[in-house]
Amino acid sequence: GFELALSRSCLTLAVAPGETIVEAVRAAGVDIATSCEQGACGTCLATVLDGAPDHQDVYLTPSEKAAGRSIVTCVSRARSARLVLDL
Ligand code: FES
Repeated sequence: GFELALSRSCLTLAVAPGETIVEAVRAAGVDIATSCEQGACGTCLATVLDGAPDHQDVYLTPSEKAAGRSIVTCVSRARSARLVLDL
């Protein structure tokens, strides 16, 4: 798992292994829109403020993935111990 900080919501939460970012965010009471929940449509896209995403989606381009400034929260995770999102 990893630590997830939501900057606009002023919340820090733990994302367990096997739990998605979307699931953890919703469990903390923060609304996040999704559609496919399979990493394909981009509805759940969030801005990364700090930390390194572990991209698991087929939505972002390779260069967007390399830039590490956005994350598809229904499937992707963190390579760093802590990830900070603009949510
Ligand atoms: Fe479609 Fe996350 S909901 S990519």
